Amino acid sequence: MSLLEVSDLQVSFPTADGVVQAVRGVSFSVERGRTLGIVGESGSGKTVLTQSLLGLTPGGQISGKAVFDGVNLVGLDQKSLQKIRGKEIAVIFQDPLTSLHPLYKVGWQICEMIRAHDKSVTKAQATERAIELLGHVGIPRPRERVNDYPHQFSGGMRQRAMIAMAISLNPKLIIADEPTTALDATVQAQILDLLLRLQQDSDTALLMITHDLGVVADIADDVMVMYAGRAAEKATKRDIFYQPHHPYTKGLLESIPHSSAAAGDRLRPITGQPPSLIRLPPGCAFHPRCAYVMDRCLTDQPELFAVGDAGEHRSACWLPAAAIGLTDDAERLRTRAVEAGRSQRAAQVAEAIAAAPESEGSVIA
Ligand SMILES: Nc1ncnc2c1ncn2[C@@H]1O[C@H](COP(=O)(O)OP(=O)(O)OP(=O)(O)O)[C@@H](O)[C@H]1O
Ligand code: SF4
Ligand SMILES: [Mg+2]
Repeated sequence: MSLLEVSDLQVSFPTADGVVQAVRGVSFSVERGRTLGIVGESGSGKTVLTQSLLGLTPGGQISGKAVFDGVNLVGLDQKSLQKIRGKEIAVIFQDPLTSLHPLYKVGWQICEMIRAHDKSVTKAQATERAIELLGHVGIPRPRERVNDYPHQFSGGMRQRAMIAMAISLNPKLIIADEPTTALDATVQAQILDLLLRLQQDSDTALLMITHDLGVVADIADDVMVMYAGRAAEKATKRDIFYQPHHPYTKGLLESIPHSSAAAGDRLRPITGQPPSLIRLPPGCAFHPRCAYVMDRCLTDQPELFAVGDAGEHRSACWLPAAAIGLTDDAERLRTRAVEAGRSQRAAQVAEAIAAAPESEGSVIA
């Protein structure tokens, strides 16, 4: 059995403007020692999805199941969730200052984390452990730096301190929510390396949330691409990068800068913007942006279908299951399906997409 098995998770927020359907029936699982990358544009529900597992979405209405190590987290009381948070599931956020208190020494905060979950640990023991952990995550001179305040650390060091805190209780699962977005490329690479090394040492499962496919390429084993609160495509990292099926995944791949791209090459944005989660388009939520839109896409929402040859590759798209990858053959299959499946209404949508100015599209990377 997987360490975490989420099935048909739904999270919505009633607001004055209407109900925000932030997560709409998402299922996935994470195995011990593996990394699942969750990728998607801003507002696709990545943070809400993971925070809802830990009871951190106040006001959110949650349904479905999320079985972690045999316990269903959905509907669990706050006291039980509190025991799981930190101890069993640790979270690393984009901005360490949301978790590190500016007025307390870094070492003290790590000690508190350790002692909050195990009262038998003395202050001296906790301090020794904090020093050891800071050293482990690459903080130089940890015996001295343990007495620093967060503002005395650089951004990269604060993120390392957050990771030290996250691993202090040997969690079974780490949720990292855009942990490197605020860092420059070199520090980002170091932090990703560190996370990978720690994970390999301890067989921890990692959920890596990012809008950066480069991060996914570096660290993930499996990938779930999210769009408008749902999974658009799920596959191994290899299949996502080399055999994408969903036009949204394909669009993301085409919108990232390639190191081989000639200087001055422009990124190709995905036309249009993500939809409002209060007033979702009918049918496939991606249809107002999809160059392959067909008649049925306007009315029928696709479930995740098996695509490709074999294995666990799934895509929520009406295009033929064999239309995977970025080759001319795959494109011919898509074009044939579109010719057969598109009449006037879908043609009008496609024309509007083709006519939309590129500058109004969005690029994630
Ligand atoms: N408490 C809340 N009340 C109402 N709507 C909310 C609430 N929290 C989140 N949302 C909405 O849920 C949607 C999903 O948000 P979420 O933060 O999960 O996106 P995300 O994929 O993590 O985006 P980003 O990449 O910007 O972090 C957004 O439309 C957001 O406005
Ligand atoms: S279902 Fe239709 S609109 Fe949606 S991604 Fe597939 S082809 Fe595009
Ligand atoms: Mg987020």
